[in-house]
Amino acid sequence: MIEAASRDGDLRVEDGLGRLLDKLARDGDVCCAGYKPSCLRRRIGVRVRATGAGDFGRYAHVLDAHPAEWTALRDTLTVNVTGFFRDAAVFAQLREQVLPALARQVEGPVRAWSAGCASGEEPWALAMLLAECAGVERTAVLATDVDERSLARARAAVYAAHAVSPVPASLRARWFAGVDPVHVVPALRGLVTVQRHDLLRDAVPATGLHLVTCRYVVIYFTRQAQEALYARFADALAPGGVLVLGKSELLTGPARRSFVPIDARERIYRRVA
Ligand SMILES: C[S@@+](CC[C@H](N)C(=O)[O-])C[C@H]1O[C@@H](n2cnc3c(N)ncnc32)[C@H](O)[C@@H]1O
Repeated sequence: MIEAASRDGDLRVEDGLGRLLDKLARDGDVCCAGYKPSCLRRRIGVRVRATGAGDFGRYAHVLDAHPAEWTALRDTLTVNVTGFFRDAAVFAQLREQVLPALARQVEGPVRAWSAGCASGEEPWALAMLLAECAGVERTAVLATDVDERSLARARAAVYAAHAVSPVPASLRARWFAGVDPVHVVPALRGLVTVQRHDLLRDAVPATGLHLVTCRYVVIYFTRQAQEALYARFADALAPGGVLVLGKSELLTGPARRSFVPIDARERIYRRVA
């Protein structure tokens, strides 16, 4: 049934998914409003198959009978793939052009927000790059995600040696200690604040920001939810502030008028005044 329905990708297909989503919001605080139906169908389908439930209706009974399944479902719904300096060209632009320019323009701390930070590789990388050009005392990075397990990993800031291999050697030598695993040094730790935040439900956690990165998060959101979020990012950024999206993500909707591309190919935009 799931295979047949997944070709449709539409919640109106009556195979029990709509009722299951109501139950998730009601009983488990898993609010799926704003995520693409095709994405939800595919991701929840993974758990339906893994548990042998057979269909969405019977999967609701599995959740009732096995509380641990809620955790497995949450993990499946949040795709946490990430990595240090993911998309090398974007980080090269940030390192060579965007962040030095912000460091010159901004008086006082340069304030960045990594929205949908997963296990922390992105905000730690931003903090290193900012500290290099603006100085430690002028670097402030907020790292947020909806998934508590990812946030715990981001806070721990401990990574396998192979995970940090994309970090340029000079930065690795300065900002990590240990051999395998390595850990972020205390001087960097204090520059990043990690907190839970749901991009679909919560108000922006800060305003007057100079940099917002939201990469490979909105691909799972409906177009309406994406456009509402872009408008909130425009409000959160100071004039001249920079927005970075994932390479497969497009800045769409009315908020486009608030931005000009710095590098359209790498999805880097400047907030206009
Ligand atoms: C594929 S990871 C991207 C991580 C990082 N930005 C990068 O590009 O490497 C997507 C992250 O978005 C988070 N996410 C999904 N829905 C979210 C929401 N509604 N609010 C905040 N974070 C969300 C997931 O938990 C996951 O950690």
